[in-house]
Amino acid sequence: MNELLALSVSGLNFSYPDRPGVLRGVELRVSPGERVGVIGPNGAGKTTLFHLLCGVLRPASGQVELFGKPVIPGEFRPEIGLVFQNPDDQLFCPSVRDDVAFGPQNMGLPQKEVRARVTAALETTGTLELADRPPHHLSGGEKRMVAIAGVLAMRPRLIAYDEPSASLDIRSRRRLIRFLQGSGETFLLSSHDLELVLEVCDRVLLMDEGRIVAEGAPRELLGDTGLMETHGLEKPHSLTPHTAPHHEPRRT
Ligand SMILES: Nc1ncnc2c1ncn2[C@@H]1O[C@H](COP(=O)(O)OP(=O)(O)OP(=O)(O)O)[C@@H](O)[C@H]1O
Ligand SMILES: [Mg+2]
Repeated sequence: MNELLALSVSGLNFSYPDRPGVLRGVELRVSPGERVGVIGPNGAGKTTLFHLLCGVLRPASGQVELFGKPVIPGEFRPEIGLVFQNPDDQLFCPSVRDDVAFGPQNMGLPQKEVRARVTAALETTGTLELADRPPHHLSGGEKRMVAIAGVLAMRPRLIAYDEPSASLDIRSRRRLIRFLQGSGETFLLSSHDLELVLEVCDRVLLMDEGRIVAEGAPRELLGDTGLMETHGLEKPHSLTPHTAPHHEPRRT
């Protein structure tokens, strides 16, 4: 038990009934204030890992601790908030305001506190003007930010963002990046958007076939062409130096 860690995962194994070996011996530590990217090919086990951290799934073996206390499957832990890979899995109330209020209300907070948290979360995510709209009428990018607001309103100490930039256009993605850079939260973030990972994370884990196969500083790990290609990924363009000049000087 280590109270100095936000998250401690040891020897985590998990199988779905029809799919064995989805997570195999995952070890992971996150300190308060860290921003950790989780990358890896489709099916590597990233989403499954996030669901185990929140106690939504029960591990076959191994241990997850949040802020020094073991996670018991099925037991709500307000210290962690999960932003789902698909916002439609998270948004179900008749209005955005109700949706964002759902978490804090279920935590049994007084109405005044719920209202204050909802307004603060909508402001932080830039979605205040959407407050009275039905979530199912929103665009993909708007839904994503409202889903984040719903998690922020619960004030978790650790947030797990699962593919937060999926289906965002350039402007919404840029806004998400600015939001994550300025958020000051401790987070885990799984993504195929490696440029996003470079911009917002200070450590990266590479997962493949249910294992963490590498770990390191973002620019070093993502810049390792051999490692990335071995695991079905590509080094991000921003890490490839431009060797040829864009415009050849005119010779006379
Ligand atoms: N509910 C489920 N039942 C059975 N198998 C599942 C279930 N959910 C996921 N799997 C399988 O578990 C493996 C890991 O899936 P997971 O969704 O954790 O991967 P991922 O790394 O998040 O992938 P992606 O990058 O596509 O989001 C995959 O082989 C997937 O087919
Ligand atoms: Mg996933």
